[in-house]
This record gives sequence, C-alpha cells and structure tokens, in this order.
Amino acid sequence: MDSQNSKSKKGKRNTREGKENIASKGTVLRYFQEHIPHFLFTAKITTLTLFLIYIGIPIFVRSNPWIMPRVVFANLLRWPPFVNLSSPADFGLVNARHFFLDVEDDVRIGAWHVLPKSMHEERGLVPLDSFEKELKNGKKVFLYLHGNSGTRGSHHRVQLYKLLASLDFHVITIDYRGYGDSSGTPSEEGVVKDSYFIYKWLKQRIGDTKIFLWGHSLGTGVTTKLAKILCNEGDHPAGIVLESPFNNMIDAATHHPFSLPFRMLPWFDWIFLKSLGEQGIYFKSDESILSVTPHIMILHAEDDLIVPFDLGQKLYLKAKATRTAYTKNVEFVAFKGDLGYGHKLIYQAPEMGDIVRQFIQKCENSD
Ligand SMILES: *[C@@H]1O[C@H](CO)[C@@H](O)[C@H](O)[C@H]1NC(C)=O
Repeated sequence: MDSQNSKSKKGKRNTREGKENIASKGTVLRYFQEHIPHFLFTAKITTLTLFLIYIGIPIFVRSNPWIMPRVVFANLLRWPPFVNLSSPADFGLVNARHFFLDVEDDVRIGAWHVLPKSMHEERGLVPLDSFEKELKNGKKVFLYLHGNSGTRGSHHRVQLYKLLASLDFHVITIDYRGYGDSSGTPSEEGVVKDSYFIYKWLKQRIGDTKIFLWGHSLGTGVTTKLAKILCNEGDHPAGIVLESPFNNMIDAATHHPFSLPFRMLPWFDWIFLKSLGEQGIYFKSDESILSVTPHIMILHAEDDLIVPFDLGQKLYLKAKATRTAYTKNVEFVAFKGDLGYGHKLIYQAPEMGDIVRQFIQKCENSD
C-alpha cells in the first residue's frame, strides 16, 4: 500500500481512507459471519415447511385417513371455549329451552328451542314445561342445521336464531353428535341421522304446523341429504334455505383455504380426496338436490372465502336444470362482495327479514 510510504497530506488522507477501506472489508466479512447462521436457519425452516407440505403431511394423511373427518367436521374446534350450552339465556336468547334427545344408545344430542318473539311479548317468560306444547300453537318452525366447527351457540348462529324468532318462527337448533354438549363422534351418516331424528321428533309434536329447514355451510350438505330422505318418504319439509352452500365435498375440499398449499400436488386427489371417500364423506348435494321437491332458496355472498360463491352457483344451476313438474322453484340470492358478509355474516343483511318472509310466502302460495 503506497500510503504507508507517503508523508504528504494527501498521503495521510490516503492512509485514513485505506484504514476505512480495510475496516469496511472487515464489516462485510463480519456481516456474513454474523448472518450466515441466520441464512442457514431460514433455509432449514423453508426446507422443513416444503417437506411437510409436499411429503410429510400427505404421507401422514394417507396413512391416517381417520384424520379427514376431524378436519372436515372440526367438531373439536370450540369457540368460544367455555360456554354453558345448558343456559341459552347466557347467549342472549330469551324464552329458549335447552333439552337433550337420545338418538342412539350412546348418542345423546343437545338442542335448543327458541320461541317466536310474539309469545314473549304477549306472555313474558313461558314456563319451560310448556315449550313442547307450544310447538302446536300454529307458528311455523325453522330447524337449523349448523356448519362445521364451534357449537350451536356460536355467535353468527345465535344472531340468525334471533332474526328468525323476531320474524315469529319457532327455532329448533341442535349440535350434531360430537359437537357441543352432544356425545359421540361425527360422520356423514351420523349427522344426517341426528337431523332426521330431531325432524321426526318435531313432526310428532307440531300437529299441522309447517317445518322449514335452514342449513349453513357444511350444514347445507346435511340439510340437502336430509331433505332428500324425507322427500323420498313422502314427508317433505315446507321449504329449504341453503346459506353459503357447496355442490359436493370433493369440490368444497379442493377449494377450501386449508387445501391451498396442497392443491397443486400431483397426488392431491389420491391423498386427500380419496381419504375423504374412504371415510364415507361425500355430501353430494348436487345429486341429492334432484330428489328435493319443495321450494329451495340459496343465499351466497360473493366474497365467501371458505365456500366460494361459484360452488353455490353450481348447486343452483344443477337444481334449476333438473326441476320437474313435481318440484317447486329454486332461487338464488347473491350478496355483493363489497358488503363484506363473507361466509358467516349474511344474517346482517338489512333486507334478510323481507327475503325470508317473501320466501315463506312463496312456499305457502304454491302449496
Ligand atoms: C349451566 O346452566 C345451567 C342452567 O342455567 C345451570 O344449572 C348450571 O349450573 C350451569 N353450569 C355452569 C357450570 O355454570
């Protein structure tokens, strides 16, 4: 380095610059020495994540297909976690009764009955032991079949019961086996059986009153299958509302956000969809709906990220194309994406009351 031999000012400056130069080389070196472990760490995490997504999780699912019903039903995901389902008043429901029904020897399901609002206005709190008798009072009944995860006490569900009760319907809602305070383990066959059981239980108690079904999300699969069974028996419900529905489980699973990272895998179908089928999970609503004769109303928000709007439309188009002289109408009500209702908040639409009232009217008129 020439700066070491120079005695000029310039030389001194060069010396200083030279030192700085050496110092900055040291800094770069130190930077790498300090960060290489970090780079390696990031690389390791990335590799591990990719390994899990592309190899680990698929192998796990394929060798443990029982995991698929847990994922689909998500009955162990309870939010909020500490709630007392025996006390519907804790959820802001007035004039509501909690009861259990024994569907099978080892399956007991929890249910609520919310009375129509006018009864509260006329009579105040109705004694719990006259709730069953009140089912004969001529007010129509909605049987609500909820979607996956949570319980019948989940917020968006409770808000809908309040809306329906305020429109003067009885509301009956259950937790399928394995959910909430119900015993057992969910399966497609099992949750349909629970719904069938409560429908028949109601039927025995309502006299000439009409029963309408309301299914949400996974519950639309249950509702459609239940409606098919009932219609095949000649015991058709008065009308059916399907909120945020899907056409079949294969399409719903393929388009669910959980499957996003796996979707491009060449073995996606073989691993995930085949495992679903092996566990008896199909929810082929687009086949069942052909046998569903009453009026059907489908509600879907364009910004639904859990069950895409397209799947609801596919179900609608299938139903529309297969209506016959013996079946009633099917209608589709879309909610614009900028309203922000997504998968769970359609109940917030200010026109919801009118939509339900008009639908009931149509069901009545065509009877
Ligand atoms: C849940 O509510 C029921 C009915 O109100 C009550 O009898 C019971 O003690 C409550 N349980 C808990 C753990 O708070």
